[in-house]
Amino acid sequence: MLRLGVNIDHVATLRQARRTYEPDPVTAAAIAKLGGADVITVHLREDRRHIQDRDLRLLRQTVPYGLNLELSCAEEILDIAIEVCPDQATLVPERREEVTTEGGLDVVSDPDRIAQVVHRLQGAGIAVSLFIDPDEAQVRQAAALGVEAVELHTGAYALATGREAERELKRLLSAAAVCRDVGLHLHAGHGLTYDNVAPVARIPMMRELNIGHSIVSRAVFVGLQEAVAQMKHAMETALLQREMS
Ligand code: PXP
Repeated sequence: MLRLGVNIDHVATLRQARRTYEPDPVTAAAIAKLGGADVITVHLREDRRHIQDRDLRLLRQTVPYGLNLELSCAEEILDIAIEVCPDQATLVPERREEVTTEGGLDVVSDPDRIAQVVHRLQGAGIAVSLFIDPDEAQVRQAAALGVEAVELHTGAYALATGREAERELKRLLSAAAVCRDVGLHLHAGHGLTYDNVAPVARIPMMRELNIGHSIVSRAVFVGLQEAVAQMKHAMETALLQREMS
């Protein structure tokens, strides 16, 4: 089964633009579920630019089926994660000046720090996924850290066109093959849209796609439930094509 994780950070971005109470990401999660979301994903950033602590706590109470928290290795956020206990924690790099998460987590350069964080999260009963670039060394190091899953960064694929997009897709396919060899669950995300999602959904053993900006953008015009349903449909169509080929 291929799960759709709907990232609702940008619903909170809109609210924070006026520091008001609407639109509420907690309501967004309920509507996304009606549209077919399998997982609700949020990133509690150190600067709290979108999701707030209150959102995360309420989401834990109202999303019993699959809450995925993206977080950096910062001690303060880690403590909150352990207290709130999401179903899954996805470790991401975080820099204050970035517009969004830019590269993958470099698990090869700093394995000791990441090992400590993984240990604390798993000790609290939280499944851990590492958001990494589609690179064999990163995947093998992630497996050595004993995590449940990796999320392959699809940002470079999403930005590329023509031949370059084909090359980026090949990188994703090769990294996915290594994931299978080492027994890691395979997730992907970042920059995925209705137009570019199909080849990624068709990658063998792909289990979860985390998608935010494109869905929330479409929701402005067609409503959130419909926008989620359209993305789910795009993924299911791609899967059917994979099975028939
Ligand atoms: N996965 C991870 C780890 C991310 O950091 C983000 C962005 O918050 C996403 C997926 C979703 O990316 P997008 O909003 O471009 O769909």
